[in-house]
Amino acid sequence: MTAPAHLSPAPGTRVLVTGAAGAIGRSVALAFAEAGARVAVSDLDGERLRSVAREVRALAELPVDLRSVDDSAGLPGAAFTALDGLDVVAHMSGLLLRRDDLAEITAEDWDVQQEVNLRSTFFVLRAAAELMADQGQGGRLIAATSQGWWTGGVGGSAVYAASKGGVVSLCRGLARTYGPAGITVNTVAPGAVRSPMLLKDLSEDALQDIVAHTPLGRLGSPEEIAGPVLFLASPQASFITAATINVSGGWLPY
Ligand SMILES: NC(=O)c1ccc[n+]([C@@H]2O[C@H](COP(=O)([O-])OP(=O)(O)OC[C@H]3O[C@@H](n4cnc5c(N)ncnc54)[C@H](O)[C@@H]3O)[C@@H](O)[C@H]2O)c1
Repeated sequence: MTAPAHLSPAPGTRVLVTGAAGAIGRSVALAFAEAGARVAVSDLDGERLRSVAREVRALAELPVDLRSVDDSAGLPGAAFTALDGLDVVAHMSGLLLRRDDLAEITAEDWDVQQEVNLRSTFFVLRAAAELMADQGQGGRLIAATSQGWWTGGVGGSAVYAASKGGVVSLCRGLARTYGPAGITVNTVAPGAVRSPMLLKDLSEDALQDIVAHTPLGRLGSPEEIAGPVLFLASPQASFITAATINVSGGWLPY
């Protein structure tokens, strides 16, 4: 599905997509590439990243472990070098460990989800914003949150939800900080999107319950998240910042 040109960033826009080996990140990278963007892709999974990089004709393939602050903070600089500048970051990486019984949650469960989902968002987006501010042409920062930021999480995802709530708060703060430099910072909150992350360890009953409470009566597709991400990077979204775009088929009306 190619986005209409007027709702896409200009051809040649320099874009870093994280989590690009994942279901949503791959779709986002593909949509940017189809819009004529210059794309750098990043992920922990080097093998799947290689295949996506080939598919989207990425100019750079940047394997990183976002549990590392050094990897997180260094990633935008590597993309900037490869793309000869940086206009957009779509930070789509994420990690969900479901634990139906809160008593089973360990400190390790807590740390890894906070590190991958929340801490990396700060170090990646701050480094990108500083580069964009020096570049002097504004920029677009887009991070993936989740409906869990609002609900507190369903299906054993309380810790994940807390990290995604942090992503929303953090991006509001970054929007305020970097707005004067013409840099917008927004989050996209997917509802239930068909992907290995959603389905892993989720009971069939919980899945059916989500679908039953979704006015559109189905799961979303990764492409249906890519569209709003591209829109946030387009000229039409120039006055949108500190927003959380609800892309859930109406699962949560807000
Ligand atoms: N699928 C859904 O229903 C859904 C719903 C709400 C929010 N989200 C969010 O959307 C984003 C994309 O989700 P998805 O469904 O494509 O999941 P996914 O699991 O397919 O993709 C996530 C990617 O993040 C990467 N990643 C994980 N740990 C990493 C690390 N330490 N360093 C670098 N990369 C790492 C993974 O390798 C993977 O490729 C995530 O932020 C997720 O939390 C997804």
